[in-house]
Amino acid sequence: MTLERKLSGFAKYAWFVLIYNMLVVLWGVFLRASKSGDGCGQFWLTCQGEVLPSAPQFKTVIEFTHRIMSAADGVIMLVLLGWAFAIWRAERSERSASVLKTAGAAFFFVLTEGAVGAGLVLTGNTAETLTAARPFWMGAHLINTYILLAFLALTARAAAGGKLFKLRVSAKYQTAVAAGILAILIVSITGSIAALSNMIFPSGTLSESIAKDFSETSHILLRLRLLHPVTAVLSGVFIVFLTGWMAKERFGDTDVSWWSNVIALLILIQIAFGAMTLLMLGPIVMQLGHLLLADAVWISFVMFAASFLASDARPKPIEERLT
Ligand code: HEM
Repeated sequence: MTLERKLSGFAKYAWFVLIYNMLVVLWGVFLRASKSGDGCGQFWLTCQGEVLPSAPQFKTVIEFTHRIMSAADGVIMLVLLGWAFAIWRAERSERSASVLKTAGAAFFFVLTEGAVGAGLVLTGNTAETLTAARPFWMGAHLINTYILLAFLALTARAAAGGKLFKLRVSAKYQTAVAAGILAILIVSITGSIAALSNMIFPSGTLSESIAKDFSETSHILLRLRLLHPVTAVLSGVFIVFLTGWMAKERFGDTDVSWWSNVIALLILIQIAFGAMTLLMLGPIVMQLGHLLLADAVWISFVMFAASFLASDARPKPIEERLT
């Protein structure tokens, strides 16, 4: 069997693993938003002290389902890693080595994802409990999830035949990629703080919610949540311009320009969706849609950056720019 054929079956599996992981993440948001994070009590690995909960409440079912999905994820990821290793051992090519590296990194970050989840439960940072450490747990969880999704997307991309990328490019391009990553992380972390404060301090009306944002007696989390829409709009505009400029630096590369258009479109939709989420006081279905779009923006940026770093195209020549 040729390397391409071996990798094409693997690529389909890698895309499936990426989608499965996004579903686990969405279920995690449903779990948080439905305040079911304490559904298994402060027990981990067991649920309410039992392997299989015998008299589950609704929130126990939600929390237990998340744990089963995460455990299955461990197995699914192990298969991904084992398969990548088998292909690499048989081929020892640059592409199979790249696939193995990213699959290995993804496996590592699924383990740390489980560790963060366990940490949340064992420290009691679930449901409506608010400790000083919880916003940091939320941020760490989000960053870990993003890194995991990034490595899965890169694994699928390389297996599907995407041009391999190099990190040794000029400092200005490295800075541009880092700035894009940082902008998305800042928006998303402020988003998880907004989500946490909406959950812990719910408001009945929009005017009540806005009053809380500006009241000096409000909890610091409430006063910080305004940061999210502000950073979202500023970073959104920044990323659209950044990727637009980077696409021009890779003039004629259709992959790079396609991903830069996808990002611009997704950011536009996300800003409108975010505004609707805010106006509707964040019903669960909007929270799920908003996080799904955030993951899509992130994965698109990862694909864009990989295509950019893989491209040999050059900026549009000066003489052509003037015509
Ligand atoms: C590129 C733009 C954006 C990104 C990447 C983004 C990302 C996120 C993320 C990751 C969360 C946390 C989701 C969760 O853990 O449940 C969040 C929450 C939230 N975002 Fe955004 N967001 C963006 C734009 C906006 C805008 C423009 C607004 C409002 C005008 C907005 C309003 C909200 C609200 C209200 C929440 C809290 C929802 C809840 O109660 O769970 N977002 N956002």
